[in-house]
Amino acid sequence: MSDVGAALRLVRAGWIMVREGVVAALPGDQLAGLPKFGWRVARLFTRRRALRAGRSDRLAAAIARLGPSYVKLGQFLATRPDVVGNDIALDLALLQDRMETFPMADSVAAIEGSLGRPVGELFLSLGEPVAAASIAQVHAAEVDRDGTPTKVAVKVIRPGVRRAFQRDLQSYFLAARLQEHYIPATRRLRPVEVTRTLAQTTKIEMDLRLEAAALSELGENTREDPGFRVPAVDWARTGRDVLTLEWIDGIKMSDVEAMAAAGHDLKAIAANLVQSFLRHTLRDGFFHADMHPGNLFVEQDGTIVGVDFGITGRLGKKERRFLAEILYGFITRDYRRVAEVHFEAGYVPRIHNVDAFAQAIRAIGEPIHGQPAETISMARLLTLLFEVTDLFDMQTRTELVLLQKTMVVVEGVARTLDPHFNMWKTSEPVVGEWIRQNLGPRGILEDAREGVGAFVSLARQAPELAHRAERLSREIDAMAENGLRFDENTARAIGKAEARATRWGRVALWVIALALVWIAIRLG
Ligand SMILES: Nc1ncnc2c1ncn2[C@@H]1O[C@H](COP(=O)(O)OP(=O)(O)O)[C@@H](O)[C@H]1O
Ligand SMILES: [Mg+2]
Repeated sequence: MSDVGAALRLVRAGWIMVREGVVAALPGDQLAGLPKFGWRVARLFTRRRALRAGRSDRLAAAIARLGPSYVKLGQFLATRPDVVGNDIALDLALLQDRMETFPMADSVAAIEGSLGRPVGELFLSLGEPVAAASIAQVHAAEVDRDGTPTKVAVKVIRPGVRRAFQRDLQSYFLAARLQEHYIPATRRLRPVEVTRTLAQTTKIEMDLRLEAAALSELGENTREDPGFRVPAVDWARTGRDVLTLEWIDGIKMSDVEAMAAAGHDLKAIAANLVQSFLRHTLRDGFFHADMHPGNLFVEQDGTIVGVDFGITGRLGKKERRFLAEILYGFITRDYRRVAEVHFEAGYVPRIHNVDAFAQAIRAIGEPIHGQPAETISMARLLTLLFEVTDLFDMQTRTELVLLQKTMVVVEGVARTLDPHFNMWKTSEPVVGEWIRQNLGPRGILEDAREGVGAFVSLARQAPELAHRAERLSREIDAMAENGLRFDENTARAIGKAEARATRWGRVALWVIALALVWIAIRLG
């Protein structure tokens, strides 16, 4: 029954996308057979008005008609250029997540339902909404802090959005299954799995306790950092559907003129933003993944305050090392090293040739080095890198794609503040410091390039080497006690071969075996 409903809603969504010209805007000439026929028919049914509009306007019109769940779908796909392609991802990123506010009575009901206390008891006053988006809206309110009325921001989940999203999600899953079944070429993009990721991230976004936890974690990480902070969480007034935060009095970063008028040093703020982002990413492995200028405030003293922590990204230690070394490799033009890092991390299968891969990476790096530094975009470099790595069967690393998308946004914001922004010079202190702290002694950057490369490589492998050495020394102890010992398979193989081999052959096998043990001990 629910499948029928999902199918009907999917048909409706498809029809809206056909009418608004979204389907016609897809690159249909790359299709063949039935899908291509469908694309041709879809063009016939497109509204005249839509045909005159650009692709991003068509998308915006369709999504406005389709509702909040599709805004989320659009935003999510904007972060997956690996799935929808760069052009469409850019169009989707332009989609504005601004919607009509919902009535006060709904907010009051959501707050009381979630916190189990009357609004009059929780707040001194609850003002009209100041902003509304697909999932939630935000009110200004006042609470009593030890007798002092204090302003807070109260974010409330849109009524019914969770149920609506669950329902639309079934249509997405159906569409993904159909796509996998009927358009085999897209199977590699794993649409069902992508939909599952969407379901997961949105579930997190719709539980405001998790946003509160993200704020609190990033707040702890950045407690000692100058120039960046997040609003404090009021846990007593926070639940699944309500998030209460310290009110931030500042200028939105989207309002560059107001920032300039207030006398802020825009260049310094641009540098601070990028360095903060890189610090969160490299040092803490936890970053705000929705850093558009509407989610960033600048306070009077120039401190940047981030809000809206529904989407965050995490990078493990391995990914952070990978990232630092890639950036460092590009800075020093060591393309072979950049290539090796991909292999060492296991991202590119060993069947490929390191030198051929290094050649492809050189093709990205060299043109960049010919340009003045302020025109070189780190985000663009990562985008190109992922395009090339795709040619070498690099598996999509979702966390790295999310990082790259965020970097596009952060770098873009920095450039609107400072048109001559130099991403490389700005990031060097943070990337360099991280490498010094994590991949070798201080001063490593000043070392000769080869020396640095070798050391970095060694440092990266240190845990594995230590592990291997430990295992080997245990083996050697055991050997001293029990005499030489091979693992069972080796012994059996030698035994089998022995039965067939001549006397000299047998000697040769034992010599090889002993040589292996000797090499292993030397390596240890
Ligand atoms: N702590 C705060 N102080 C002041 N204004 C806030 C605060 N939190 C959110 N806002 C305002 O509400 C808007 C929407 O909040 P946000 O958390 O970004 O939700 P959304 O997911 O709807 O974008 C923000 O762009 C900002 O204008
Ligand atoms: Mg926001």
